[in-house]
Amino acid sequence: MLQPAADLSDLMAAPIADLDVSRGEYFQSGLHHALFKRLRAEDPVHYSKTGPSGPYWSVTRHEDIVAIDTNHEDFSSNRDIVIGDQGDFAPPMFIAKDPPVHDVQRKAAMPAVAPTRLADLEALMRARLVAILDGLPVGEPFDWVDKVSIELTTQMLATLFDFPWEDRRLLPYWSDVTTSSELVGNYDMSMEERHRVLSEECLPYFARLWAERAAAPPKFDFISLLAHDPGTADMMKDPMEFLGNLMLLIVGGNDTTRNSISGGVFALNQYPDEFEKLKRDPSLIPNMVSEVIRWQTPLAHMRRTAARDVEFKGRKIAKGDRVVMWYVSGNRDEAVFDDPDRLIIDRPNARRHVAFGFGIHRCMGNRVAEMQLRILWEELLKRYSRIEVVGPPKIVQSNFVLGYQSMPVRLHA
Ligand code: HEM
Repeated sequence: MLQPAADLSDLMAAPIADLDVSRGEYFQSGLHHALFKRLRAEDPVHYSKTGPSGPYWSVTRHEDIVAIDTNHEDFSSNRDIVIGDQGDFAPPMFIAKDPPVHDVQRKAAMPAVAPTRLADLEALMRARLVAILDGLPVGEPFDWVDKVSIELTTQMLATLFDFPWEDRRLLPYWSDVTTSSELVGNYDMSMEERHRVLSEECLPYFARLWAERAAAPPKFDFISLLAHDPGTADMMKDPMEFLGNLMLLIVGGNDTTRNSISGGVFALNQYPDEFEKLKRDPSLIPNMVSEVIRWQTPLAHMRRTAARDVEFKGRKIAKGDRVVMWYVSGNRDEAVFDDPDRLIIDRPNARRHVAFGFGIHRCMGNRVAEMQLRILWEELLKRYSRIEVVGPPKIVQSNFVLGYQSMPVRLHA
């Protein structure tokens, strides 16, 4: 188990008004769960005077998160969608836009991950997954994150972009570069270097793909869809807008799915009875997938900015205030989930989790992520009696991406 940092008792005793939950160390040590439990009970819509870029509101209860997330008129996504404000380098992307721009661009990219498309992709993804699993060493320790979680997610993204296969590891690299910042803290890189890699390496690479796809008949990959849709076909006129949307589509599917894959293994090791339950009844896999996503919550929060003065649950939120929806807290809300800290693979309401958000920005890739996790567990159960975590995982230090940098495991035949 992870050891909470030593100052938990101080934090629990501090005046609630002084509580600022945004430090990456809290999430890395697992201490954040106790802090959010306190906020849900004592001050569910909490104002923090300090934060990565200044004061912010924390919305921590399930029903309040849904209320904010579905009210895009009062709570805008314009430009800043994480707790800290972006610096000067903020290429536009549709997750950070309000209607109408958001709706037009989302609609253009959507067919790549629509349910009908996924039915076509499942056989291909399964074949590639089986090849990864059959190449894993049995009986000796290896890093699950690198060999399985990253590789599998990368293959899925490369398929959705129809990205040159031999270069596919560029995708998680550019994703890590995108999320590297002092605020998100996923990767150690200066802002100048980040800017350089994205605009001088990532953008020209994808610009070549765009030119090829625009000149060829339309297909169902993200680039071809954007190049051919009348609403987005002129996106290359503003290369920064193209880059921003690439960053979104790469990051959106990367850390999230990767950490749900690792999180499932970690959680089932903490709750071995649940793994036995799964082995006895593999028809529980789809429900377990939702439960793992609830338990892990790969993105801790999304943020909005109040578009006008709003009174919410008795609190006066002023125009321009930062409002953070802590999905990680909503997913452990005891008013909705019994025994919320526990993984229960047949939990009846696991699908009520808020890890994919709600409203017009609800995760576009939720079906593809669920499919990937489902086929992974179907194939794992056919092959191995146990996936044993043999050492402490290395946890990401971030208030946004909740996940694992490495996790040593041993497979049992
Ligand atoms: C377990 C895996 C995943 C989780 C937990 C997750 C979580 C999220 C969350 C929390 C949001 C914001 C929702 C909101 O603001 O209401 C989001 C949006 C989004 N996600 Fe995911 N995501 C996952 C997988 C994926 C995948 C595989 C893709 C596709 C490649 C993807 C693409 C996107 C996009 C494009 C958006 C922006 C949607 C919009 O603004 O309309 N996600 N995701």
